[in-house]
Amino acid sequence: MLRTVRATRYVTPLREGGSLPAIIEADDLGMYVLKFRGAGQGPLALLAELVAGEMGRALGLRVPELVFVEVEAALGRNEPDAEIRDLLKRSVGLNLALDYLPGSTMFDPAAGDTADAKLASLAVWFDAFVANVDRTPRNPNLLKWHGDLYFIDHGAALYFHHNWQSIDTAAHSQFSAIRNHVMLPWASALDAADAEAHQQLNTAVFAQILDAVPDAWVTPEGGVADATERRAAYVRYFDERLAASSSFVEEAKRVRAELV
Ligand SMILES: Nc1ncnc2c1ncn2[C@@H]1O[C@H](COP(=O)(O)OP(=O)(O)OP(=O)(O)O)[C@@H](O)[C@H]1O
Ligand SMILES: [Mg+2]
Repeated sequence: MLRTVRATRYVTPLREGGSLPAIIEADDLGMYVLKFRGAGQGPLALLAELVAGEMGRALGLRVPELVFVEVEAALGRNEPDAEIRDLLKRSVGLNLALDYLPGSTMFDPAAGDTADAKLASLAVWFDAFVANVDRTPRNPNLLKWHGDLYFIDHGAALYFHHNWQSIDTAAHSQFSAIRNHVMLPWASALDAADAEAHQQLNTAVFAQILDAVPDAWVTPEGGVADATERRAAYVRYFDERLAASSSFVEEAKRVRAELV
């Protein structure tokens, strides 16, 4: 499902990103924003970036193309910055990247940016579904590019996977953090978004997305459950969360009513 490219040039770090992502060039001459496997948040952040990103795409949201990126030891050898050199060394092998959108700017309501009800509602639904807390006015992770909005930075979504004991609670969570969602003010069509999401998502879609994740990212702790079993556990989580969507939809409607 995802293409694999090879990194050929480290162009520049994106210092505003907490995980020190970088713009790189690849052997297809494309430019990408690389999320390193060796960054502090580890392989589960890459899994979240991939799974949530593809989930957004399946819902009809714009997400820059995601690709696997092969990083070789040679890439970091001449890097003068020790922090970057170490990060590259820890990330030799498979990583994840997003197509780089040159000249894009961040969505900013304070500067007058607005969103239409359909898109905003689907975005709110999506972020509640994957439990993504990184879509706030301070950190919207929403890029304006050629007149469209692109959703990025899903590495912190699916936080339940850091603690599988919490999975049942997470699947049925109202996701109260939705009150801080940057698009909530425009999300006046949440019931329609819920209906649309139920049209687009199902077990087969979830399974196909999980199948794309490399084994080593699915069970980075090595072993506990094997990768196949763990993938099935993610799929069950999404099935349950979809079936329980009315709980987070009602919560989003409730907090929005207090807002507008
Ligand atoms: N595909 C892209 N095209 C252009 N710019 C991008 C792209 N992806 C990320 N950026 C820029 O790089 C910044 C950091 O990326 P991102 O938010 O994904 O990294 P992060 O380390 O997860 O950041 P955070 O500190 O928000 O957790 C973004 O805020 C954005 O300005
Ligand atoms: Mg970010």
